[in-house]
Amino acid sequence: MSAVLTHPTSTILDLPESRFPLRLGVENKRIRDLFHNATRQQWDPATDIDWAAVQPEQYSEEQRRAARMYWSRRAWGEYGAISESPALQIRFCQEKCVPDMALFFTIRSQEESRHAEVCYRMAEALGGYFEEPAAAVFQGSVATHGIRKMALDPTISLEGTIAALVCAAEEIAFDVFRHLIEITVNPVARQVSKMILRDEVRHCAFGWAFLEQRMPQLTPQEREGVRQAVITMIEKVELNGYHSSWLAPDSPSSRAETEVDRITWEAGLGATTEELEMPIFLKSIAVMRQRMKDAWDIDIPKFTHYKFSQPF
Ligand SMILES: [Fe+2]
Ligand SMILES: [Fe+2]
Repeated sequence: MSAVLTHPTSTILDLPESRFPLRLGVENKRIRDLFHNATRQQWDPATDIDWAAVQPEQYSEEQRRAARMYWSRRAWGEYGAISESPALQIRFCQEKCVPDMALFFTIRSQEESRHAEVCYRMAEALGGYFEEPAAAVFQGSVATHGIRKMALDPTISLEGTIAALVCAAEEIAFDVFRHLIEITVNPVARQVSKMILRDEVRHCAFGWAFLEQRMPQLTPQEREGVRQAVITMIEKVELNGYHSSWLAPDSPSSRAETEVDRITWEAGLGATTEELEMPIFLKSIAVMRQRMKDAWDIDIPKFTHYKFSQPF
């Protein structure tokens, strides 16, 4: 799959590109269907959200400020996807993956940019978007996803990258979005999460459809690479607070972010709390582990984290 490298820092951009013969027929029907669904499900953050219903004046200054920080952080998270999606696209072309993937990902990139915009607009509607975290140390938790680098590194398999990014991380995010829709009171905050979830359903389905086709073709060693990539994503990214601030290493700045979430949740403007999210997170991990066992016959071990009294 990957060419022999002459320099350890080489990326796939250093490899020659050969595009032809260019296949554009359907080679993964499920992914092609997702692409067509996506083109039919486009929406516009500027006009499809009832922004007037935010009614920021009904909240206290403190609540508005917390919610602005929360929605700004959501925008930064979505931006992470914007920065990784094109790198994966280059990888699909470089590896001559089934064409359905590259077609789907053009829309996927658009959808992630729409998510970033809608979160930005929500922060603006509440009084103003923040361009960066209050504390620089927290950037390590919200900015480290590592996918862009993995996507361009020919020594890391694409199957492992997609399994980690989509079947693990995006699935966990999906469960949290669904939970947020259930608990968020402000109709606009709820609508924003709903619209994002509508797109994320397809993003998740893409990962499973890709791996369903690829897993049977992998060697035992490559399958182990997939397993390790998933474990690394959970341990180094998710359990480091990428999606949930209460999972970040304990520090004054992560405590401040958790407090932002609590105030935002109390106001009904989005966000959740450690107590509410913990069972959702545990269930996500359990469901993911079982699904990977059933679909790919790989065993994801139990994880540990200082917030949990026992391995999960
Ligand atoms: Fe997204
Ligand atoms: Fe996504």
